[in-house]
Amino acid sequence: MPSSLAAPPAPLPGASLVPVHDAWAERDRHWWRSSVIYQIYPRSFRDLRGDGIGDLPGITAGLPALAELDVDAVWLSPFFKSPQKDAGYDVADYCAVDPIFGTLEDFNALTAEAARHGIRVIVDLVPNHCSDQHALFQAALAAPAGSPAREMFIFRDGRGEHGELPPNNWQSHFGGSAWTRITEPDGTPGQWYLHLFDSSQPDFNWDNPAVHDEFERILRFWLDRGVGGFRVDVAHALIKKSGLPDWGGRADGSSSEGFPGHEAPMFGQDGIHDIFRSWRQILDSYDGERVLCAEATIDPLDRLAQWVRPDEMHQTFNFAYLHHPWNAWELRRIIESSLRAFDRVGAPTTWVLSNHDVVRHVSRFGMTSGHARPGDGLGPADPQPDYWLGLARARAATLLMLALPGGVYLYQGEELGLPDHTTLDHDHRQDPTFHRTAGERLGRDGCRVPLPWTADAPAYGFSSSGASWLPQPGDWAGLARDRQAADPGSTLNLYKAALRLRRKLALGHGTLAWWPEHDDAGVIALVNGDVLAVMNMGGGPVQLPAGELLLGSHPEAGRDGVLHPDTSVWLRLA
Ligand code: GLC
Repeated sequence: MPSSLAAPPAPLPGASLVPVHDAWAERDRHWWRSSVIYQIYPRSFRDLRGDGIGDLPGITAGLPALAELDVDAVWLSPFFKSPQKDAGYDVADYCAVDPIFGTLEDFNALTAEAARHGIRVIVDLVPNHCSDQHALFQAALAAPAGSPAREMFIFRDGRGEHGELPPNNWQSHFGGSAWTRITEPDGTPGQWYLHLFDSSQPDFNWDNPAVHDEFERILRFWLDRGVGGFRVDVAHALIKKSGLPDWGGRADGSSSEGFPGHEAPMFGQDGIHDIFRSWRQILDSYDGERVLCAEATIDPLDRLAQWVRPDEMHQTFNFAYLHHPWNAWELRRIIESSLRAFDRVGAPTTWVLSNHDVVRHVSRFGMTSGHARPGDGLGPADPQPDYWLGLARARAATLLMLALPGGVYLYQGEELGLPDHTTLDHDHRQDPTFHRTAGERLGRDGCRVPLPWTADAPAYGFSSSGASWLPQPGDWAGLARDRQAADPGSTLNLYKAALRLRRKLALGHGTLAWWPEHDDAGVIALVNGDVLAVMNMGGGPVQLPAGELLLGSHPEAGRDGVLHPDTSVWLRLA
C-alpha cells in the first residue's frame, strides 16, 4: 500500500502552506534572478579542428543545440592563453585566446552567433592567481626581492636558519605545500612564493593597487567585447590575512568550524568585498545587465550571502546544494536555509548539481557504498556506481531543481545523463591533483571527458578527426546527442521539456512553499505557484494528490497517481 503524500490531500488554500519565500513578487524581474546558465568546458565540448581538444569554433557550431535547451547564457571555462597546467585555470595572458582554442576572431564569431540565439556569453575570470608563464610573474622572478615587480605576487623569505623552510604551513588545494622556493637571478636559493593551487599558479598580491588596476583593465577588455559577465574563480581567496599566520584547518578552508579562530586566514577576508564593489561599478557602467557570479566556497550560507549583497556580485554558486546527500530531510533543510540566507540580502539563490570539479551527479547518486570526496574522482579500483540508479536519481533531482525559484547552473553533458569516466587509466590523467598527491587523489579528469554528439562516429562525433584528449568510455553510443534527440524518453528530451516548462510557468521567478508536513521522511514536496513538485527519495511508493501531471522524471512517473522511489513529478494542482 503506497503511503500518502497528504492524507487526505489537503485543498490548497495559501494558508495551509508554510511560506518560505515570496519576496520576489514585488521585485524587478532581472534576467539573472531566474537564469539558466550552461557551463561549457571548452576543451571537451566540441572539436572542429580535429586535434582532439575542443575549440571556440566547435562551441559556435554547438550553439543551436544549446538554444534548443532554451538556456539564457553559457559560461565558458577559461580559453585564455595558458600552458594548460590546470586546464586553463593557469592564465598566461588574460586578453588573448590560447591557440589550442582558436583566436579572438573566433571568440567574436561565437558571441555574435550566441546573440543570434539570444544567449549571453559569460567568461571565467581567474583573479586569485595566474600562470608562472605570465609576463608579470616572469618579471617578478627576474627582479630583486622587495621590488615592485615582486610586489605583484606574494613573495616571502623562508623560515629556518637559511630560509630553507616555507614561510608558513599553508597547504595547496592540490596537495603539498602552498609555497615554492625560487632560485634568485644570481643563482642562489631565494624567496618563496605563495600558490594556493599548483606551483605553476602564483597567487596575486591583492594588497597592491597595481593588481587592482590590472584586473580592471581585463574586465573592461572583455566587457568591451560584449560579454554578459564573469564567473569569478576562487572569489573567496583574493585577500590573505596580514602576517600570513599558520592555519590548522583543511587546505580548502571550506570547513573552518572547529579550528582555532574559526576563520581560514586565506579565505573570506573582509577586504575582498571592496574589490567586488569596485567591479560591480564597472559592470553597471555598461549597458545590458552584465553579471558577476562568485565561485566562493564559504560556509555557512549566511556568510556566503555576503558575496551577493546589492552592490557586490549578482550570484554565487550554492555548493551546499551541490553536495546534498540523497536524503529528503537534508535537502529540504538546504533549500530552505539557502532561500532564507540569500533572501535576507535581496539576492537570488542559485542551484547546481555538477561542474568540472566534482564527480558528475549521475555517478554520485549511483554510489550506494558511499564515496568520500566528490572532487577526488573515482577510479577502476573504487567501488563502481550503479549507472541506472544514478541516472534515475539524477533525472529526479534535476526536475526538482528546475522547479525551484532562482538561478540554475547546468554542466555540459548532464543533459545527456553522462556519468563520470570511472575507469580511466592513470596514464591519461592530467589533473594536477593526481600528480601532486602521487595518485592518492585521482582528481577531476573523470567529469571532463569530451561530449558524445553522434552515436556512430569516431569519438562519438566530438572531433572531426576522431581524436579525443581524454578517452571516452566505450559504452557511450546510447548517450550521444543524436540518439537521444530521437528518443522521446531520453534524458535530453526530459531537460528540453523541463526547461521549456520552467520558463513558460515562470518557475524561476516563482515562490516556494512546502507542502504540509506528512509522515514520510523520504519525500520532498514543494509548491511554486500552482505547481507541486514532488521527489521520492525514500524506499516505498507514495500516493500523489489529485492534479494534472505536467512532467515526470521517468516516462511512467506519477502516471497511476503513485510516485515510485527515485522519481519526481510536476503536478498542476487541481
Ligand atoms: C577553481 C576552478 C578549478 C581550478 C581552481 C584553480 O576551483 O573551478 O577548476 O582548478 O579554481 O583555479
